[in-house]
Amino acid sequence: MDKRLPELAPRIRAGADPRSYFRNVGDVWLEVGFGAGEHLLAQALANPGVGLIGAEPYEAGVAKLLSKLEKAPAPNLRIHMGDARDVIEALPDSSLGKMFILFPDPWPKTRHHKRRFIQMDMLGHLARVLKPGAELRFASDDTGYVAWALERFMAHPAFVWTAACAADWRKRPASWPPTRYEAKALHGPPAYLSFRRL
Ligand SMILES: C[S@@+](CC[C@H](N)C(=O)[O-])C[C@H]1O[C@@H](n2cnc3c(N)ncnc32)[C@H](O)[C@@H]1O
Repeated sequence: MDKRLPELAPRIRAGADPRSYFRNVGDVWLEVGFGAGEHLLAQALANPGVGLIGAEPYEAGVAKLLSKLEKAPAPNLRIHMGDARDVIEALPDSSLGKMFILFPDPWPKTRHHKRRFIQMDMLGHLARVLKPGAELRFASDDTGYVAWALERFMAHPAFVWTAACAADWRKRPASWPPTRYEAKALHGPPAYLSFRRL
């Protein structure tokens, strides 16, 4: 953590083009709450021309990703150990090609719904930083949170849900590597929602 994390932490500056956090990348993608980082690392290895930023405040998860990186180095991966909101706030308009929000904390109790990452005002921030046509992937195994997220994305004028049939959200696409949380599938079968920034 002491040695590797500072080398991989993007020095976030308000308004900076996120490509400047990397060497030679054409596009930048962001994962919010990467847990132990299996999806983030798989995306980085599969897309060497893309810069991947992962935000995760959970120290043990960051440590797990760092140890995976010892065996599978990914020069196009950066880690922000903290709140994804810090990264999003600092990004300029239309600067991300993709975003992943996979199995975010569901906060199932009604009095905790306000803690959910997906909120109408947050969708405004996400719309601002995504490029036109960019994809946003959201997954959850909590049916209450899936309904909550769908309701908000569909009410937001900047996003369209791309599913054409039930298989599109019931089956994880091949280009969507599994996460550790998903492997545990605690609450039920996951839903995989893909939205496009209009
Ligand atoms: C249920 S876990 C899922 C982790 C991982 N995406 C997976 O599928 O294995 C949710 C993660 O989101 C992280 N998280 C919660 N709020 C966050 C925020 N504001 N910014 C970044 N990460 C956050 C938590 O620390 C936790 O590791």
